[in-house]
Amino acid sequence: MHFQVNPSKIYDASVTVPGDKSISHRALMLGSIATGQTAIKGFLAGKDCLATMSAMQLLGVEIDMPSSTEILIQGCGLNSLQKPGSDLNLENSGTAMRLLAGLLSGQRFSSVLRGDESLSGRPMGRIIAPLTLMGAVIGSDPDGTPPLHISGGMELNAIHYDLPMASAQVKSALLLAGLYADGVTSITEPAVTRDHTERMLGTMGVTVVNSEGKISLEGGQQLDGCNVNVPADLSSASFVILAVLLAEKADVMITNVGVNPTRTGVIEILQGMGGDITLENKQLSGGEPIADIRVRSSQLSGCNIDPALVSLAIDEFPVLFVAAAAASGETIFSGIAELRVKESDRISAMSEGLRNLGIRIDEQPDGAIIQGGQFTSGTLQSYGDHRIAMSLAIAGTVASDSVTVKDVAAVDTSFPDFCQCMAKIGADINLIKST
Ligand code: S3P
Repeated sequence: MHFQVNPSKIYDASVTVPGDKSISHRALMLGSIATGQTAIKGFLAGKDCLATMSAMQLLGVEIDMPSSTEILIQGCGLNSLQKPGSDLNLENSGTAMRLLAGLLSGQRFSSVLRGDESLSGRPMGRIIAPLTLMGAVIGSDPDGTPPLHISGGMELNAIHYDLPMASAQVKSALLLAGLYADGVTSITEPAVTRDHTERMLGTMGVTVVNSEGKISLEGGQQLDGCNVNVPADLSSASFVILAVLLAEKADVMITNVGVNPTRTGVIEILQGMGGDITLENKQLSGGEPIADIRVRSSQLSGCNIDPALVSLAIDEFPVLFVAAAAASGETIFSGIAELRVKESDRISAMSEGLRNLGIRIDEQPDGAIIQGGQFTSGTLQSYGDHRIAMSLAIAGTVASDSVTVKDVAAVDTSFPDFCQCMAKIGADINLIKST
């Protein structure tokens, strides 16, 4: 499958984007170990979250899907999961694998976690090391990659862990394992990362303390099922935001988007580049801040990206590379080496893609220096990475001629109906099923 993208005229509109991926994963996992019903609305029915849903069902949890955005979970408590009848296939999802590794480390039964080719090459040592310190026994391939073989029946003990890298997935894995550990598990992180796990645990009645950046939780606390309204995913909204900013003259509203301050780095960075982005109707929904995001076309200027914003915009760097490539002047990205171990090596994939569109880009080990310019036409490789595919498609909307982005099936992991949603603002992005 590939995208055929034509130069587009973006027009004024109001749009919604699908539910938040991180929150949808967490609602499934936490609802599964809560007591009573958890009703999820606004669920992201993307392939990643559906893989988590199947995994929880294989772990014996009763989960129904009355509609494509609604989920009902009948939770039976912290110790109700059952030995799965087969390996758990988490497909492309790093979040599913890392969080579930934490959750499954403290169970009575053993389990095996697998993934697709991309996930099978991603580093799991970062969760295996601290979970092992807690008493878990987890086998992996010799280089620390999946499949993960998690032994059952291990008694977990609480630890304090200073995270060596900023990772919400590792933090969340430890918090989930901490629920099954004896004592108080605590974590410090080198930079603030998304705190959806802490917030949702709080909504479900678990006491999670954040004292000057030290996050702690006492084991054995029971979770109460609840209603979860999943906001629209800011990471998905970022593609709409960029298309509008780069357009000639458009004014678009994206409604009910999650604007948790641990996620809004992309807005701050784009505003710093001159982007006209405002948040309206701010409110709190189930412990998560949401807002309507109004975006108007703007002239962007290059800048030196503030390293303090990196962990708050970790998934938006592919989009930000495109913004930099379309801005006037030079933009310097540094401190983003983590991008090399995402669904693809995102620094390398974006550098190659933008270079093929005529942009001057100097790839660095932990970043890139991008000289803004005009995109030419080209045929680009997404390396099977959803965010690379969508970011390069947005570049295509302002290129001098049509752009092809290859291997885009993975877009379904986070943004099903991407083309239909982008069509609502006039973006001419067509999904072509290869024969
Ligand atoms: C996520 C955390 C981030 C992010 C990923 C989702 C989460 O990963 O890139 O898309 O839901 O916790 P890291 O923890 O590896 O930074």
